[in-house]
Amino acid sequence: MIDIHAHVLPEIDDGPKSWQETMDMLFQAEDDGISEIAITHHILSNLAYEREEEILRKFKEAKERIDLEKLNVKLHLGSEIYAQADMELFHTISTYNNNKKYFLVEFPMQGIPKFVGDRFFDLILDGMVPIIAHPERNMSVIRDPERAYDFVQRGALLQMNASSIVGRHGNKVKDTATILLNSNLVHFVGSDAHNTRRRPMKLREARERVAEGWGEDRAGLLFNENPKRALAGEPITPPDPKPVEPLTRQGIPNPVSMIKRIFS
Ligand SMILES: [Fe+2]
Repeated sequence: MIDIHAHVLPEIDDGPKSWQETMDMLFQAEDDGISEIAITHHILSNLAYEREEEILRKFKEAKERIDLEKLNVKLHLGSEIYAQADMELFHTISTYNNNKKYFLVEFPMQGIPKFVGDRFFDLILDGMVPIIAHPERNMSVIRDPERAYDFVQRGALLQMNASSIVGRHGNKVKDTATILLNSNLVHFVGSDAHNTRRRPMKLREARERVAEGWGEDRAGLLFNENPKRALAGEPITPPDPKPVEPLTRQGIPNPVSMIKRIFS
């Protein structure tokens, strides 16, 4: 599996605090079957790029430590950019492996800033592809999953967290994850790992859930093929999204809304 969202280097953000913790995470990844990981530390404003040199230096050191330990894990560059109207995307770490195409962007948890629609549209016209981090945890998307549909229709892609699929953030987030998966609105699943315990470097359990619920082909796309393409800067053609359906408590489509659709 390939993980496009993880906080792995020590003392950069709220990820690991030592090289020991970093290496523990990488061992955990290998145990879980993760063979490639993009390093995506928070870029909260353009000022954070002042630490790019440090990130690049620690990235190189992490690769050397991986070789020393003979770990079967390959690292890629990237970042998790907090959405701002003036966000800079030309730095070495802005896009995955500096491919100038795919970048991971997060919204504030409480909602979606107004400028985002226009800003994303301009970037998409320029050939760039925003990958929206964990939309299933965003309050606006939880209240109205159609918001996610609108972004995908415009050309953005969505990255869901493995922890949301396995229910670690409660039923509302899990239900939103199910709605988005049912509607073909998820293109990647990442760990968003920060440590080995509360936010671990694990994808396997989520992959099993996706394979059970939506099929092995879908799991292959979300955990391997699409991540591989994003890291390489290759085109991704997502399937057409389906209409967003609310769920019953059991996580199956709401019969009332199904009947309404049949007779509408
Ligand atoms: Fe993150």
